[in-house]
Amino acid sequence: MRREEVIERTVHYVRNELYAESSGHDWWHVDRVRRLAMTIAEREAADAYVTELAALLHDISDYKLNGGDLERGPQIAFDWLRQLGETKECATAVSDIIANISFKGAGVACSMSTIEGMVVQDADRLDALGAIGVARAFAYGGFAGQPMHDPALRPRLHETLEDYLNRKGTTVNHFYEKLLLLKDRMNTETGRRIAERRHAVLAGFLQEFLDEWDGKDAEPDR
Ligand code: ADP
Ligand code: NI
Repeated sequence: MRREEVIERTVHYVRNELYAESSGHDWWHVDRVRRLAMTIAEREAADAYVTELAALLHDISDYKLNGGDLERGPQIAFDWLRQLGETKECATAVSDIIANISFKGAGVACSMSTIEGMVVQDADRLDALGAIGVARAFAYGGFAGQPMHDPALRPRLHETLEDYLNRKGTTVNHFYEKLLLLKDRMNTETGRRIAERRHAVLAGFLQEFLDEWDGKDAEPDR
């Protein structure tokens, strides 16, 4: 099968699977990650084909939503590509990226070994920053039924994956526990540059939110 056709079929497959997703892993998230990853890949001289496939398939079965199965997403991607006639090398490259992409807690190390993986991970993380990142965080909060904010609950930097998965939190704490940490975890120079701007949007929003919460914006000398 030609590469264009593999991409086209994969787009179709992923769009069907994720269209109605409401936890923040919907088709449009995948489409944004794919476009951003392609832009970064070009500047970082990463392989465009592996990058695009990994971006398209990266959220096909998220462990946080499938009952904690870390193997399932990478396996589905591998089987899908093999079934389309892709080589073992290509299918393995893509499934390895998917196995390593997710954030697993502030204190949990996770290393990406290929430039394509670094690019897709940067693009995925960039979609959690900026205006879209703010919107996705509150959309997720509604999906999970968690409060926006509770001043009595302090943020925690999770040291283990289990700890991170079992957390009970608020959307504002998620900013401290993950989103504000991402800028310093970018893999590529291009990713870092885009992250600077998106981080500033995120941090500015949070400051404004907390000021309004405390009524500081109503003080006369502001
Ligand atoms: P990934 O799998 O790409 O690392 P996640 O599944 O953790 O990302 O997050 C998907 C989206 O949902 C992101 O925009 C993230 O900020 C948001 N999100 C995840 N967990 C929370 C949470 N506890 N509170 C608010 N938003 C969250
Ligand atoms: Ni994602």
